[in-house]
Amino acid sequence: MGMMTAGSHHAREIKSVLSRLSELPTPPAALYKMLDALSNPKLSMARISKTVMEDPALSSKMLKLANSPYYGFQKEVMSVEHAMVLLGVETVKALALGVSIFNTFHNSTELKGVNKAGLWTHFLAVGLCAQLIAKAARMTAPDVAFTAGIIHDIGRLALLRLFPADSAAVVERLQNGELTLIEAEKEAFGLDHQEAGAFLADHWSLPEELHDCIALHHDEAALKKGRITGAIYLADKICKRRQLGWTGEVITPELTSDELAALGLSSGQLAEVHERLTEKASYMQEFFKSIW
Ligand SMILES: [Fe+2]
Ligand SMILES: [Fe+2]
Repeated sequence: MGMMTAGSHHAREIKSVLSRLSELPTPPAALYKMLDALSNPKLSMARISKTVMEDPALSSKMLKLANSPYYGFQKEVMSVEHAMVLLGVETVKALALGVSIFNTFHNSTELKGVNKAGLWTHFLAVGLCAQLIAKAARMTAPDVAFTAGIIHDIGRLALLRLFPADSAAVVERLQNGELTLIEAEKEAFGLDHQEAGAFLADHWSLPEELHDCIALHHDEAALKKGRITGAIYLADKICKRRQLGWTGEVITPELTSDELAALGLSSGQLAEVHERLTEKASYMQEFFKSIW
């Protein structure tokens, strides 16, 4: 098959993939409210708790998490407000985001070879890792890094939801270690999950910084785009190198000292990020169980 043929074949496919993406349900208002809350550090717990209580599914997950053995609170936590005080702002925001994204992309079919639980652990791990990097490198908005980490792979979730069989085949194609995820997706769909995610980010009017993280996290251009975007790029690699969560990729990405330097991160600071991430391992497990 000549290049021209392959090109026009893909062009047709991309168009149909994009039109399917545009039919996905818009994320609930709660997601936008949470994103707003993140960009406004002054927003009080009272305001956030009001947003949470408007959403019964979110409220019940909040209670489930607060009553999980991980926290080991002595008495049963009965009210959402109490749960939120005990869990803290960061966890409340993460749970709100996780639940709204989960609902948007929920697909009840089990896919052979696709570890959905592991995928969610990957999102949370990248969020926590990016936040730690942002703090270590003294970035202005570590919370934005956390949010960006949780949603950086929404393109992947969208492709899984819309094209489950093709997505499972993509994972299968990665097994022999010859293709990257990006390459396998381009072969299957004509576009990769960064492009799919960027399309959704535009379609849903997500903030530019989040759009860039979604669009560039597998590309070293991320390091030049912005500091948060760079943090997500590094965090994604770090979590894969440590096998935190699952993505289906078998090629372990390299992490160079130039890349660390691009964000102004010393090797000592990186070691500290690693240590803090280890401490969060059981938190990630409990968090995930409460979303499911
Ligand atoms: Fe990705
Ligand atoms: Fe990722």
